[in-house]
Amino acid sequence: MGGKLKVFSVLVSLFAVTAMIASCAGPTPSPTPTVSSPTPTVSSPTPPPPEVNALTVYHWWTSGGEKAAIDALIKVYATKYPDAAIMQTPVTGGAGFTMMGIIKTLVLAGDAPDAFQMHAGYEGKPYFDAGLLDPIDNLWKEEGLEAVIPEVVRHMCQFDGHYYSVPVNIHRVNVVWYNKSLLDKNGIDPTTLTTWDAFFAACDKLKAGGVQYPIQMGEAWTAAHAFEQIMASMGIDFYQDLINGKITSADDPKLSQALEIFKKYLGYVNPDHAALTWDDATKRIITGDGAFNIMGDWANGEFYVAKMTYGEDYGTFAVPGTQGMYGLCIDVFQHPKGVKHPTNSLGWLKVVASKEGQDAFNPIKGSIAARTDADISKYGPYQQSAIADFKAAKYMFPSVVHGSGAPESFKVKLSDIISGFTTDLDVSKAAQALTSYTKEISGEYTIQWSLK
Ligand code: GAL
Repeated sequence: MGGKLKVFSVLVSLFAVTAMIASCAGPTPSPTPTVSSPTPTVSSPTPPPPEVNALTVYHWWTSGGEKAAIDALIKVYATKYPDAAIMQTPVTGGAGFTMMGIIKTLVLAGDAPDAFQMHAGYEGKPYFDAGLLDPIDNLWKEEGLEAVIPEVVRHMCQFDGHYYSVPVNIHRVNVVWYNKSLLDKNGIDPTTLTTWDAFFAACDKLKAGGVQYPIQMGEAWTAAHAFEQIMASMGIDFYQDLINGKITSADDPKLSQALEIFKKYLGYVNPDHAALTWDDATKRIITGDGAFNIMGDWANGEFYVAKMTYGEDYGTFAVPGTQGMYGLCIDVFQHPKGVKHPTNSLGWLKVVASKEGQDAFNPIKGSIAARTDADISKYGPYQQSAIADFKAAKYMFPSVVHGSGAPESFKVKLSDIISGFTTDLDVSKAAQALTSYTKEISGEYTIQWSLK
């Protein structure tokens, strides 16, 4: 693996615990959107009494591709542990923005489910700081995981040198998905779209060719997701400073430049974005209502269920300016203290970390396996190219929007600020808000990242 990424000096922080408890009150309200956001739903089965041999699992995999993938993983678990009743609670709301609040309430009430989805990196930190997770070094040892999980991922599963989670996958976040026939029809060669200028010129061509909104985007977090990739395109030094809490001047030229690019980007975006889920926006690329969608490679799962062929019906390229970079979103599960069915919880972690589990889940999900010994023949052409890109990556960077790179309160604030920006397009206001919030929470930056 070419990319280097290390996590230094994880410090125990009371700020993080306080932030966690504060956020139990519910998600921070967004600035009034022009169109109302998709309503989250939680379809929770009645919890089984503790004496029942059950496994309770919370996750936010509710789109077509995501559901097919989690079902495949659950099938592996059910084959290995046929006596355990599996109680899934899928919570709608991409990227876990809705589910995280629910989980925190349950965990703090001493009612943690046996397993719940989370992201590697910062997202587990408040739970660790509050002493709510059990270390799982033994499981890593018994399953021989250190030999098959890349160093970059291993680091992100640890706090204070001990393992607290197991990864199920590695998603890439800096990907543009495109509708091939629209690009062909308008004479656009996607391999040339390596700069923002070239990308916007292609959007102009598409508009002239009758594609009213060449870029499709969804609800608030997907706007923040796109902006995060634009920030990564400002270079690895800038991104590293961002996640280490060092972008503190509202006049920072790269921050202003990133916001200016995003402002231009929004000029090509569907005006109903706030009312769409991430997968609604991806579907518009599938149907040809739009040409481009910046999204993590869970989008591949939607093309998969729509039976689209990679290279013929759709394709991908790295977000302009991020060639050779691999933006990381890693889904993990952990072993919360005091779960009702600890043996089943550990069994779930073993399945999640296993070659069999990962090779059942990831080919559908769009991610690559977190294990280096995955059976590549089971993965489609998009993922085979992602595996090659991961190995060749010059730099890896942990996603902020997907919980890894920065303190959770920053992730939530970023989404709120960017949501406001999509309406007022005020560059200096957004730069001011982002940098003053970074200063306000300086004590929460307890992980120092080294991305080079
Ligand atoms: C990410 C998650 C992915 C995918 C996506 C959309 O945060 O890690 O697995 O599901 O959100 O919900």
